[in-house]
Amino acid sequence: MPLTDDEMAAAALGLSGPLEPWLALNTEGDYDDPAVAALLAPFPPTAFMQRTSSLTERRDFASHGAVMVRALAEALPKPLNALESILDFGVGAGRLARMFRGYPGRYAGVDIDAELVAWVADHLKFVDVHHIGVREKFPFEAGSFEAAISISVFTHMERRDHVFYLRELQRVIRPGGYALLTVHGESALALAEGNPEVRDMLAMTDAELAEVRAAFTTGDGFRFVPQGAHLVQRGYRYGQTFANEAFVRRFYGRYFDVVRIVPGAIHGFQDIVVLQRPAVVKRSLAGRLFWWR
Ligand SMILES: C[S@@+](CC[C@H](N)C(=O)[O-])C[C@H]1O[C@@H](n2cnc3c(N)ncnc32)[C@H](O)[C@@H]1O
Repeated sequence: MPLTDDEMAAAALGLSGPLEPWLALNTEGDYDDPAVAALLAPFPPTAFMQRTSSLTERRDFASHGAVMVRALAEALPKPLNALESILDFGVGAGRLARMFRGYPGRYAGVDIDAELVAWVADHLKFVDVHHIGVREKFPFEAGSFEAAISISVFTHMERRDHVFYLRELQRVIRPGGYALLTVHGESALALAEGNPEVRDMLAMTDAELAEVRAAFTTGDGFRFVPQGAHLVQRGYRYGQTFANEAFVRRFYGRYFDVVRIVPGAIHGFQDIVVLQRPAVVKRSLAGRLFWWR
């Protein structure tokens, strides 16, 4: 159904206005209508959409972005557009970033894929985007951001990279700020176990899923399944990563307060983990980090 004039006017504000008209414009708007097209953020080339999301249709790319924004807004303890600054870790081809058109704060992004970074820099002018190397510190001072968001990134990293990037996020998020990350938890595993299409989308075998199930029931709740991918490079392993709620609370809880975990928050598949950086950090004699308020 076409948007009313009032909805169009509200949608024109992008993320600085009310959420629903902006999300409706992206998911239901008539993209052939020049008035609608003028309000939408640019779409990346098909190859870039596919590389980062397996999606090939603009409307699907936008709908996924809208689902993510709604889920993030529901999970965050404060309004999304009231955040002063956001770091998009693994910004990719901007599936989430493009939904932040109109966002009044600072929106920065980092990615290891130079082609995607170049596209974002050229087309999403409101994004302060940077290319980074594998396990390279983010090019920002400590405490630069009120929040970081990372969609479908920790879902592919091995354990030692969880440690590196949780520490790095802890550094660049200011005290009291938030990190919103997605993980493959119980919802994703159950969907993959019950649905061959989902299993195939993950490019996993039944035996690999069984190993994940074993890690969830009798192991420590974490399993990384390495896979060949364009991102695999020297020293960087990439694959499918599963982390259940107990693991997230225990392991991520070393770096942040775990505010909440929303199971299946994105399409009933990925969980959203909401982390908060406590006000003060203390380094113990053993060199481990302990937090207190
Ligand atoms: C599955 S894509 C998701 C992209 C985007 N967040 C989205 O939801 O559309 C994962 C992205 O993370 C990036 N990435 C993976 N490992 C990274 C790392 N160590 N540092 C920065 N970016 C990374 C990839 O290049 C890719 O663009």
